[in-house]
Amino acid sequence: MLRVGILVSGGGTNLQAILDAIDNGTITNASVEVVISNNAGAYALERARKHNIAAECLSPKEFSDREEFNQALIAKVDSYHLDLIVLAGFLVKIPESMIAKYRNKIINIHPSLIPSFCGVGFYGLKVHEAALARGVKITGATVHFVDEGMDSGPIILQKAVEVLPGDTPEILQRRVMEQAEWIILPKAIDMIANGNI
Ligand code: GRF
Repeated sequence: MLRVGILVSGGGTNLQAILDAIDNGTITNASVEVVISNNAGAYALERARKHNIAAECLSPKEFSDREEFNQALIAKVDSYHLDLIVLAGFLVKIPESMIAKYRNKIINIHPSLIPSFCGVGFYGLKVHEAALARGVKITGATVHFVDEGMDSGPIILQKAVEVLPGDTPEILQRRVMEQAEWIILPKAIDMIANGNI
């Protein structure tokens, strides 16, 4: 059984897609052991509590410096003895020491077809604003392993989504979530849980 920890900062719709996929058998051989957020108000924590999953908040603001926060984050993650760490909209930089310790055991969902619209400054709605500004007709989402770069680790899965006339960043974001993110992130976890990656 793959022990999974999920790191979040926001609404948690990707977390919910994972929890639903485990409940309906789309993901097998995996259990979510903990949800960790840097944001006490993240609705993702409420989604975890509703599912009787440990919900932990660790905010950099609670620590005297970033290094102290990093150590606390690693200790918290270690305490759950995880096989896989999933970044589902986690907006805090993962410490390099944690990436090294959990090499090829941390995955991230990014709301574009990497290498387009990724890297520093490309997160949340900004990704979709850039796609619309460039005029691309196809966008999508990517699941990749996390390395020391920003959105630069080995790609695991991608799924394309059409950009439609009249799309706003919000409309496009929702379509990318519904038609790509909420499908490929659970699929990637199931593949890892069953030794298919
Ligand atoms: C998603 O758009 C994901 O692609 C990005 O952060 C957002 C998280 O949304 N990494 P949610 O908290 O899962 O609803």
